Amino acid sequence: MDVMDNPLKKTQKASFLKNYFTKVPEGEQSSAAIAFLASLEAIQEAYPAIAQRIVKELQDQRSHLKLIASENFSSLPVQLAMGNLLTDKYSEGFAGHRFYAGCDNVDAIETEAAELAKKIFGAEHAYVQPHSGADANLVAFWSILVQRIQNKEVEALGKKNLNDLTPEEYERVRQLLVNQKVMGMSLGSGGHLTHGYRHNISSKMMQSVSYDVDPETGLLDYAALQKQVKEEKPLILIAGYSAYPRLIDFAKMREIADSVGSTLLVDMAHFAGLVAGKVMRGNFNPIPFAHLVTTTTHKTLRGPRGGMILCTNEYKEVVDKGCPIVLGGPLPHVMAAKALAFKEAASPEFSVYAHQIVKNSQALAEGLMAQGVRVLTGGTDNHLFLMDVVTSFGLNGRQAESLLREARLTVNRNAIPRDPNGPWFTSGIRMGTPATTTLGMKPEQMHEIASIIYDLLKEAKAGVVEKTGAPSREKAHVSEKVLHRAQKRVTDLLCEFPLYPELLID
Ligand SMILES: Cc1ncc(COP(=O)(O)O)c(C=O)c1O
Repeated sequence: MDVMDNPLKKTQKASFLKNYFTKVPEGEQSSAAIAFLASLEAIQEAYPAIAQRIVKELQDQRSHLKLIASENFSSLPVQLAMGNLLTDKYSEGFAGHRFYAGCDNVDAIETEAAELAKKIFGAEHAYVQPHSGADANLVAFWSILVQRIQNKEVEALGKKNLNDLTPEEYERVRQLLVNQKVMGMSLGSGGHLTHGYRHNISSKMMQSVSYDVDPETGLLDYAALQKQVKEEKPLILIAGYSAYPRLIDFAKMREIADSVGSTLLVDMAHFAGLVAGKVMRGNFNPIPFAHLVTTTTHKTLRGPRGGMILCTNEYKEVVDKGCPIVLGGPLPHVMAAKALAFKEAASPEFSVYAHQIVKNSQALAEGLMAQGVRVLTGGTDNHLFLMDVVTSFGLNGRQAESLLREARLTVNRNAIPRDPNGPWFTSGIRMGTPATTTLGMKPEQMHEIASIIYDLLKEAKAGVVEKTGAPSREKAHVSEKVLHRAQKRVTDLLCEFPLYPELLID
């Protein structure tokens, strides 16, 4: 980063706050906005180039339509809870059982967050330390392995503690641990990297097999899954996804898991906000059916970047030992922000928000389908869906993603089932509505977005590689006129729904 071209020049020092106090009458001032602007000024003084990037990121998120299904806009209080001295405290262990002195305040924060999480989701136990969704999955895997394999072996050897085992005994236990089987939805069907993908540790510390969606319908086929589970008999059966646009019947998943004694792990990283907001109820709510539920806290749940595990009391003790088995010291500042986000998620407004996410997702999918765009499975029941850009526009996912970004729409490309373009170029674009819904958009705006996307992509042609003149698999282009028209429509739309309008930063 070049400090020399920093737009936040020394002469502008303290200008954010001064500007704010000048423009906003005293009775209308927001403590969150003042705190944000003050912290920005403090960062500016300490390291101008970093402050510059924060401002640029704000400008980027304000000027581009965020349609990435896994992203959202957290509240300023959630963000502010992370920016303080809590980051300085070590607190390995769990509340009331720490390996460090002076953890009273962290205990209170962690307990508060965990109690709130239990209440919102109706879970028996909550563990709020995982730093991310990937960490939460690792902790969950190892909790199951420890509970079901290691502890049993230690007991069978007549020992109390792992440290009492001879090196030979320990090696035998270790071999048993790495020979267990995990089964999750394949990446191509919408599963996640951490669910047994070959390039992820989940497939290296266990044998991994995956299940696919039905190639014709794109839907989960429970009868086929039941058959495969009977053959494979995995120790862990994972339900959950990053790119599956339909509801999952978790009662059925539990029945399937129980039929071979598998532990059911649901990864609700994507749809936790829809569970908290009571959109996913009955058989579609994983909490009553799963042994363990993992999640991120920053997607539909709209909290800080982080992870969490909810589990039955049966798994409580091993899950609470996430540190030392997987994790190091917890992040108390992030746990504080999780507590704030959970408080927000417990409100009636959050439930309205969660329902609106799905209405918007359906409106956006319908808007595209009405123009003849192929949407996988013919629509969506949740916050996301996949658009097949090869069939619809003759583009691969990478080309469509880069052209949409030029037009100020931020999306991500995604493989579709049996994708001929593979996981890098892909044939799909994943679309999601959690962020635009946070801005206050409704189906009317979704129809406008669908129209912007269609008008742009229908005109697209594959680009060429500048050096060689060969067709580019990375870029697509449209005429300046078409591009400017799309950009203007996005800008007009975003002007009506400003991001953090209380932050007076141009
Ligand atoms: C289903 C699922 N699980 C886990 C993760 C990992 O979350 P994180 O990026 O916080 O590690 C993701 C993230 O995209 C996800 O979609």
